[in-house]
Amino acid sequence: MNQIGVFDSGVGGLTVVRSLKRKLPNESILFLGDTARLPYGIKSKDTITRYTQRNVDFLERLGVKAVVIACNTASALALPGISSTVPLWGVVEPGAVRAAAVSKRCVGVLATESTVLSGAYERAILRRRPDLEVVSQACPLFVPLVEEGWLDDSVTHEIAERYVRPLIERNVDTVVLGCTHYPLLEPVLRELFDGEVEFLDSAEVTAAEVARALAVEDSPESRSTPETRLPDRFLVTDAAARFERLAHRILEGDWGTLELIDL
Ligand code: DGL
Repeated sequence: MNQIGVFDSGVGGLTVVRSLKRKLPNESILFLGDTARLPYGIKSKDTITRYTQRNVDFLERLGVKAVVIACNTASALALPGISSTVPLWGVVEPGAVRAAAVSKRCVGVLATESTVLSGAYERAILRRRPDLEVVSQACPLFVPLVEEGWLDDSVTHEIAERYVRPLIERNVDTVVLGCTHYPLLEPVLRELFDGEVEFLDSAEVTAAEVARALAVEDSPESRSTPETRLPDRFLVTDAAARFERLAHRILEGDWGTLELIDL
């Protein structure tokens, strides 16, 4: 009956919620978007860790049975230092596991500046497959473009072309969309590569991992059924109207109430 807590710095985390809802339709989601502090992707490890711990503590106080850190930046920089009394998942490890399993030669990682600088994806992939090459590219303009709703705009095409050039030059066979916002740009990005390239969305692989773990670890009394399932809740720390616009696009109207809160 308890909810699954999910947090991200912004609306991009709803790509993880969308994947969780597909995999676990009986579960209820408590989402926290820390929009007052967005972007995380250009901040230091100490600051991101402080924000992440506060978000996890907040969700725990609301009684969630597990927390999914949907933010790649928080997963890359903060997760190892976070304490929690409930199971905690990040999105980097599941994405890296999948990349290591499917790539034959070279993985391209598109992520925020802080995630790229942390080297977290690269380390996690090479730990499993030292034979692979990894090329990482920070794409700082993608988050504002997505937040603006410019998912298929000539400006977005031009910027995407510039960001993926190093990946095309290195002939990557796998691209990790290593930021919650980037799955929304997948159609634009796909056009820039030939059909042979595999795109990995961390949201999808993380949701599959959470579903697998809950099937084994979840106690019967905290499991939801269609009868006991609570409504989903969506909390944001700022700019609720802006969040709502994009949330409709991502969850296609399939969502609950939106509440503006202070942490
Ligand atoms: N949610 C962040 C991530 O997945 C991107 C947005 C931000 O910079 O806060 O890395």
